[in-house]
Amino acid sequence: MRILLTGSEGQLGTCLKERLPVEWELLACDSQTLNIIEAQNVLKIVKIFAPDLVINTAAYTRVDAAETEIKQAFAVNATGTLNLAIAARTIGARLIHISTEQVFDGRQRVPLNENMAPNPLNVYGQSKLAGELLALNAHTYTTIVRTSWVYSEHRHNFVKIMLKKGLETQNIRVVDDQIGCPTYAGDLAQIIIQLAKMKQYQRGLLHFAGNQQMSWAMFAQQIFALAAQQDKRYRKVKVEPICSADYQSAAKRPEYGVLDSSTINKLVEERVVYTPLAEVISRLLA
Ligand SMILES: NC(=O)c1ccc[n+]([C@@H]2O[C@H](COP(=O)([O-])OP(=O)(O)OC[C@H]3O[C@@H](n4cnc5c(N)ncnc54)[C@H](OP(=O)(O)O)[C@@H]3O)[C@@H](O)[C@H]2O)c1
Repeated sequence: MRILLTGSEGQLGTCLKERLPVEWELLACDSQTLNIIEAQNVLKIVKIFAPDLVINTAAYTRVDAAETEIKQAFAVNATGTLNLAIAARTIGARLIHISTEQVFDGRQRVPLNENMAPNPLNVYGQSKLAGELLALNAHTYTTIVRTSWVYSEHRHNFVKIMLKKGLETQNIRVVDDQIGCPTYAGDLAQIIIQLAKMKQYQRGLLHFAGNQQMSWAMFAQQIFALAAQQDKRYRKVKVEPICSADYQSAAKRPEYGVLDSSTINKLVEERVVYTPLAEVISRLLA
């Protein structure tokens, strides 16, 4: 199988590169080699490499900055996604595109399934929803995988931020009234590979997130409890749970973003074995 991967230096892109079967032919493109905003270049590269499957992990992911960089967020997350869908359609390749729980407004208090209506609260969510709709309209063979609270050993994420902060300060204020499911990028990569292997093509929306729901403050507490087992400097860190109203951020975020992953888990042949947070923390502190 020939795979064209975008955003290859991001969290998910890196995890996919590490896990894709070695016998698959991979063209891994970072933002320099393939800027997905550039429609003509996207089409050119897709035509030359002629992949069976395009996996789009490239995205504008700075949720707060998106509130002011609206044009840039939409250029990448909406137009960039459309460019890839059109290019994939032109050569008859499938597209797997990644989206977010932030397309929802968080007013529902039951796990969010694929049939629930989106209603994004912030520019990032709006731009990601636009990307979903554009890709689904442009190309029949499009699968959208929505996920949430992604962390990994790579790039910028909540786990790495907490581990760094924990060495700088002992009292850390963390929001306690937003609930979601932290998702290890390696687990998400595994489920994407399983989707890629499926003979029966799955069009439309799918949800996949980690299997534990919690608040950001609870997540931080878990991170420090596990880190303290390996490095005693983390024993002194205290997490102070606060309300979103007491934490200044440009973008409004959904209070509830728990994704129901049951459809995708029933669909794939091998159930995903969720990687324990302890394993990731141990690798980060090694
Ligand atoms: N991170 C989360 O918590 C989270 C939650 C839910 C959903 N998601 C979705 O999951 C997917 C993967 O996220 P991630 O955490 O792996 O993101 P990430 O680490 O921020 O990586 C995104 C990648 O996209 C690249 N990129 C940005 N603009 C681009 C452009 N115009 N053309 C090509 N590449 C471009 C970035 O490259 P540069 O750094 O060089 O710009 C970066 O390598 C995204 O679709 C994201 O929306 C993420």
